[in-house]
Amino acid sequence: MMKELDGMHTIEIIYPDDWHCHLRDGNALQTTVPLVAKQFKRAIVMPNLQPAVATAMDAMAYLGRIKSHIPEGVDFQPLMTLYLTEATTKDTIQEAKASGFVTACKLYPAGVTTNSAQGVNTLETLFPAFEAMEKAKLPLLIHGEVNDKDVDVFDREKIFIERYAQTLINTFPSLKIVFEHITTSEAVDFVKTAPFTVAATITPQHLLLNRNALFIGGIRPHHYCLPVLKRQTHQEALIKAATSGNPKFFIGTDSAPHAKSKKESFCGCAGIFSHHAALELYATAFDEANALDKLEGFTSLFGPRFYDLPVNTGKIRLTKENWEVPHTMTYEDESLVPFYAGLTLSWKVI
Ligand code: NCD
Ligand code: ZN
Repeated sequence: MMKELDGMHTIEIIYPDDWHCHLRDGNALQTTVPLVAKQFKRAIVMPNLQPAVATAMDAMAYLGRIKSHIPEGVDFQPLMTLYLTEATTKDTIQEAKASGFVTACKLYPAGVTTNSAQGVNTLETLFPAFEAMEKAKLPLLIHGEVNDKDVDVFDREKIFIERYAQTLINTFPSLKIVFEHITTSEAVDFVKTAPFTVAATITPQHLLLNRNALFIGGIRPHHYCLPVLKRQTHQEALIKAATSGNPKFFIGTDSAPHAKSKKESFCGCAGIFSHHAALELYATAFDEANALDKLEGFTSLFGPRFYDLPVNTGKIRLTKENWEVPHTMTYEDESLVPFYAGLTLSWKVI
């Protein structure tokens, strides 16, 4: 149970996990790993490196590189994922399961987002892998967008759900499926009525912003992520789902850093970095919705329940205090612009 320590100025919740994030590789780990390990006990680490994390061996090597950046004495467990490609076989899945450190597998339709070129063109190619995942009890994490040139970018999630979601559930009834970073009321409605094997993660940016934020006085590359922000009615549906106490909806920051020069560019990358203030961003969104009492379920209880993992034991405190998010942070040999840069957040982790 969340504890109010002094009225509503300080709250204490069970330590959260992040069920979807990008830590990158190489020098980037110096920035990403200490920050994720500060607010979360576990994090599902996306496999969209180049080349992709496609086998248990790749995941083991990547896990080692991440672990070497966890600050001493900090208790943080990266949960590794495999990138499903058209070369993924039943054996790939069985080896992943046997390794003991692969928690889930990620489906990227080819071309939908950053580093998704190795993704899948025809979903049926992966049916043997899905069958093996169903048997091995490895959840399927889906970037639920189509990549057809003739589908409007704002409709790509809705069309993916229409075309594929029900078929997947019918064909693999005991496969656990997470629709990652959902952005539409259609996704909310689908997940709500789907069987208990289906859940969804929601990012802070999709709770705090809608697509107007892409065009405030000019084009705003730092608000560009995929799936792209949608109109206000969808934002409202996401806020309602996240704050409803329905355990099918839980935290997944989709923190996805890109260097400043790669965002502010002729063809800017998709992705928003939020690990500098992840919990504060969610707390601000929940507070604005008068739903702070629903924060702990969303951040700390529903994810472990879905993944069949124990709930964390420690507690973390947030206090109601205004603070300004820095304009830039060091990243790789350069800098990045974090989410809410230069703006004020009303909650702070103590
Ligand atoms: C992610 C990235 O940069 O890796 N970008 C994003 O906009 N969310 C990929 C993804 O999760 O789609
Ligand atoms: Zn992502």
